[in-house]
Amino acid sequence: MPKVFHPVANAADIAPGELKYVEAGGKAICLANVNGEFYALNNACTHERAPLADGTLEGTRLQCPVHGGVFDVVSGEPLRYPATWPVKTYSVRIEDGIILVGIRT
Ligand code: FES
Repeated sequence: MPKVFHPVANAADIAPGELKYVEAGGKAICLANVNGEFYALNNACTHERAPLADGTLEGTRLQCPVHGGVFDVVSGEPLRYPATWPVKTYSVRIEDGIILVGIRT
C-alpha cells in the first residue's frame, strides 16, 4: 500500500518537550517533539484509549494522562504498566518547516 505524507503542523509551533494532537488521513495522531526531532503516534493509548497528546513527555518517554502508562515515542513500545501493548507509530518528514506524517492508504 502506498504511503501518503500529510502536512499537519508547523514545526516551529511545537516546542521541544511538547505534544500536539493533529489529524492525518483520517487518523488521530499525537506528535511529539524530542529535542527537535519529531515523532508521530496513534493518539489513543493502547490501555483504555486515553488521548496521548494530553499526556506528558520527558525525553522519549510519553506518559499517558489517565493511568500513567508510559510509551517510547520512537518505537511505540510500552515501558510502564498498565500500558502493555505497543502504540502504532507513523513516519515523519519535515519539508520547508512543515511536519508531514506518512499514512498508508
Ligand atoms: S488509558 Fe493510558 S494507561 Fe490507561
